[in-house]
Amino acid sequence: MPTLPFRFLLVAVCAALCGMAAGIVMAASGDFTLAPAHAHLNLLGWVSMALYGLFYRAVPEASAGWLPKAHFWVATTGLVIMVPALGWLLLGHPGIEPVIGIGSLLTVAAMGMFGAVVLRSRQRVLGTSRPVPGSLGVVHLSSQTSS
Ligand code: HEM
Ligand code: HEM
Repeated sequence: MPTLPFRFLLVAVCAALCGMAAGIVMAASGDFTLAPAHAHLNLLGWVSMALYGLFYRAVPEASAGWLPKAHFWVATTGLVIMVPALGWLLLGHPGIEPVIGIGSLLTVAAMGMFGAVVLRSRQRVLGTSRPVPGSLGVVHLSSQTSS
């Protein structure tokens, strides 16, 4: 079973490969119709998912429980609904707009869940007397509380 950071980073790299390929196709064809879909595939898919993955890699104890797994699935589902639907809209199908709305709400919900995970991990860190190896957040916050 792949770890949570690995799963986030795998989705991020897939999104980057698709987003960059779309950028090259746009540049080569001179047709920038899909530019906003390209932008959000790269910014939500590559940048945001990679940041999520790197956070879970830096703070391993943050992956505990059901919330981080739910965060992964909500973020991934939002991405794979929102970006293709946005592309379809840009190709001249305004009827798809409600689907973009659903994808956007899932994407925002995922960020809210991430916010909860970050807050929760801070509480766990402050309640921990022993630094956890490999966790930047723990080392940093522990040194703050001990000074
Ligand atoms: C091989 C890599 C990439 C290529 C070939 C590429 C190509 C392009 C092209 C041709 C455009 C349209 C420019 C225009 O409308 O005048 C564009 C827009 C854009 N790209 Fe990329 N891109 C690449 C990677 C990325 C990455 C990694 C990101 C973000 C992390 C990104 C973010 C954006 C943004 C924000 C826009 C503006 C979209 C808009 O104005 O609607 N691109 N890119
Ligand atoms: C639920 C998430 C999001 C929604 C619903 C959303 C929606 C939008 C909308 C409606 C536009 C205007 C598009 C247009 O003028 O044609 C836009 C543009 C833009 N957004 Fe987002 N956005 C989201 C997340 C993000 C994130 C996370 C980033 C960056 C990390 C970002 C970066 C941009 C940029 C750079 C533009 C201007 C380029 C463009 O026109 O495509 N967005 N966004």
